[in-house]
Amino acid sequence: MAEDRSDAIIVTCTAPVNIAVIKYWGKRDEELILPINSSLSVTLHQDQLKTITTAAISRDFKEDRIWLNGKEEKIDHPRLQSCFREIRRLARKRNSDNKAPSLHLNLSHKVHIASVNNFPTAAGLASSAAGYACLVYTLAKLYGVEGELSAIARQGSGSACRSMYGGFVQWIMGKSAEGMDSIAQQVAPETHWPELRILILVVSSEKKSVGSTAGMQTSVETSLLLKYRAERIVPERMKEMIDCISQRDFAKFGELTMKDSNQFHATCLDTFPPIFYLNDISKRIITLVHQYNAYYRETKVAYTFDAGPNAVIYTLEHNISEFVEVLKYFFPPECNGEPFVKGLSFESISLSGNITASIGMEPCPGGIQYIISTKPGPGPQLVNNADLHLLGLDGLLKKTSYTSSSSSESERTSV
Ligand code: DP6
Repeated sequence: MAEDRSDAIIVTCTAPVNIAVIKYWGKRDEELILPINSSLSVTLHQDQLKTITTAAISRDFKEDRIWLNGKEEKIDHPRLQSCFREIRRLARKRNSDNKAPSLHLNLSHKVHIASVNNFPTAAGLASSAAGYACLVYTLAKLYGVEGELSAIARQGSGSACRSMYGGFVQWIMGKSAEGMDSIAQQVAPETHWPELRILILVVSSEKKSVGSTAGMQTSVETSLLLKYRAERIVPERMKEMIDCISQRDFAKFGELTMKDSNQFHATCLDTFPPIFYLNDISKRIITLVHQYNAYYRETKVAYTFDAGPNAVIYTLEHNISEFVEVLKYFFPPECNGEPFVKGLSFESISLSGNITASIGMEPCPGGIQYIISTKPGPGPQLVNNADLHLLGLDGLLKKTSYTSSSSSESERTSV
């Protein structure tokens, strides 16, 4: 597992992105990151989207340091510090219980971290979720600690606690003031619904204008609709969503997913001043999905949007070829030689004119930049290959480490 040639111990892990179908929006405690409602998400497959993090510890390191996507960043960010503090607390407890005392690890030794994503940071693609989940999982492996790691990842970024598991994951809001019961739990593993597919429609890879943290704070302060949603709507929806998943009922799952996304964006509009995450392309995608489902008189595809204009589409494997052709018809690609659809492959088919005529929208060339096709996947993983460490034995960033995330399968999704 950990490597200890010379004095440095080095561990590398990966963690997934998750996309909520019942949204988290609003905190009751800003510091501990305790939410005002429970939420539920699907963990995406790491063959397409992941964060890779290396952590190294050595008595020779002078200070804790961190490199994000190839650039050294300040280590004193309070959320980073919370994660370090909580993992070291577990390690101290483990040492004092003397269960498995580590021969090498001195808790006063400094740690170097490097982390890269293979998808655009802050494009509404939940990069902080995968990032903090990966940090916490990697530090836990480095120090050899176990325990309720989702409660630690939560203190990095709320949605990160859901990336600590694969498949279908709920974040139970909890009741306590300390947050020990505000944890993630797997509802079903990634193998539970093998036909489920996810398409990420990248409309914009620019940084979002209002970040989730600031946005939800203003919503909590000003939106009565958000309060109503958290208290009266989400508790029932959580039960309903868990039922849809356990019965693999796509029509109900899709409808509830769309309604919950719409309600989240309604609370953004009800925030004062209002927050707009959807743009014209997002709205055209919403219309297209409803027209497509209306054509079949069945919910075959569903959309959801986080704090940005990119759409995430849930559908079943047998619908994907046709729906992607419909997307290509109404959003003709302007690809500059790059593939329009990256990731998990599927058959390509030719489209019937009836569908496009029945949808009857004006095509919008270049509206969607590219699509990432994926499916549900597992939780964080330990990487058992020293060549993939992002840090060298000297604890410094390897020259190749920033690009190493765009190798093999990931290459198709790198941007
Ligand atoms: C819209 O987890 O990014 O994606 O806890 O402040 O870090 P912080 O917020 P973050 O919020 C994610 C909000 C969301 C919905 C969701 O993922 O449930």
